[in-house]
Amino acid sequence: MIRIAFFDTHAFEKEVFERENQAKQAITYFEPRLTESTALLASGFECVCAFANDKLDGATLALLAKGGTRLIALRSAGYNHVDLAAAKRLGLKVVRVPAYSPHSVAEHAVCLLLALNRKIFRAHDRVREMNFSLEGLVGFDLFGKVVGVVGTGKIGAVFARILLGFGCKVIAYDKVPDPELVKLGVVYKNFEGVLAESDVVSLHVPLCPETKHLIDAQSIVRMKTGAYLINTGRGGLVDASAVLKALKSKKLGAVGLDVYEEEESVFFKDLSDEGIEDDLLARLISFPNVLITSHQGFLTHEALTGIAQTTLGNIEAFMGNGVLVNEVVA
Ligand code: NAI
Repeated sequence: MIRIAFFDTHAFEKEVFERENQAKQAITYFEPRLTESTALLASGFECVCAFANDKLDGATLALLAKGGTRLIALRSAGYNHVDLAAAKRLGLKVVRVPAYSPHSVAEHAVCLLLALNRKIFRAHDRVREMNFSLEGLVGFDLFGKVVGVVGTGKIGAVFARILLGFGCKVIAYDKVPDPELVKLGVVYKNFEGVLAESDVVSLHVPLCPETKHLIDAQSIVRMKTGAYLINTGRGGLVDASAVLKALKSKKLGAVGLDVYEEEESVFFKDLSDEGIEDDLLARLISFPNVLITSHQGFLTHEALTGIAQTTLGNIEAFMGNGVLVNEVVA
């Protein structure tokens, strides 16, 4: 049995981990996020289990290593929040969950798109106020529209298939095209080509130096006027201030975000009594054609179960033969 310090615990995942673990490992659930100031909680725990908004920078990792931690088990696919070079230097192994129900995130991206296009959230608010007016709620048929998928890995491929089912023309950009999607009719183009032709652009690439601010002022200029932008990848893929300008000038028709570059200080928290300090986010939220969710693409029963099973499997492998198929290295 290994002692696991579980950070940024939410009731919905604790329940699933308890069910899947069956008391095999000794898990202690901590509510705070993992940061340099909470890292001491993990003192004496061989394994730290962290999520997408925990801060695994050099200082935090140094404190964990000093406290006896040897394994960082990420409950996320993304690992852009971990200083991998520091982890290597400190002798910490890092494992992740490379795949868990790609349907959960792809379907959430489609959900953002449909809700924005058909103004579902605005219509719902109106009806609750007994306002049954249809003014301002006109959308468009997705059938026949061009949808650009940026990143056709596990999630992007599912997203592309769903949109093909709607009768859209799906075009895509990925450094490694998927021949199965090509067989289904997806046409690969370069990034600029996808931006120029798409009525909807949806981002599904990981965040890395190459993809940081992939959508910035220059790339937005290349997009069709009135295009929809959907981001369920990572906040850093998008320069949010450029998006704000493009919303003001009506260059972008609508924006759906499940992720935001500065989400750490806001997402997963109930700030309804306090409000938020992030003026850019507050301004984005104020637009009627912007829909923001709090990084909930993964929030389905199937995905949560997959995350728990793979995470516990990664930990067992570390304790057993030490062959870490899901290890992330610098
Ligand atoms: P994946 O690794 O299966 O696919 C990523 C694709 O992006 C690959 O096809 C790869 O070739 C392509 N790619 C990588 N770098 C590129 C570049 N510089 N230019 C062009 N293409 C590039 O990953 P998966 O599972 O589809 O996840 C994608 C991203 O979705 C994750 O990295 C993560 O950031 C995000 N995600 C968001 C979640 C949410 O709750 N909103 C949950 C899970 C993942």
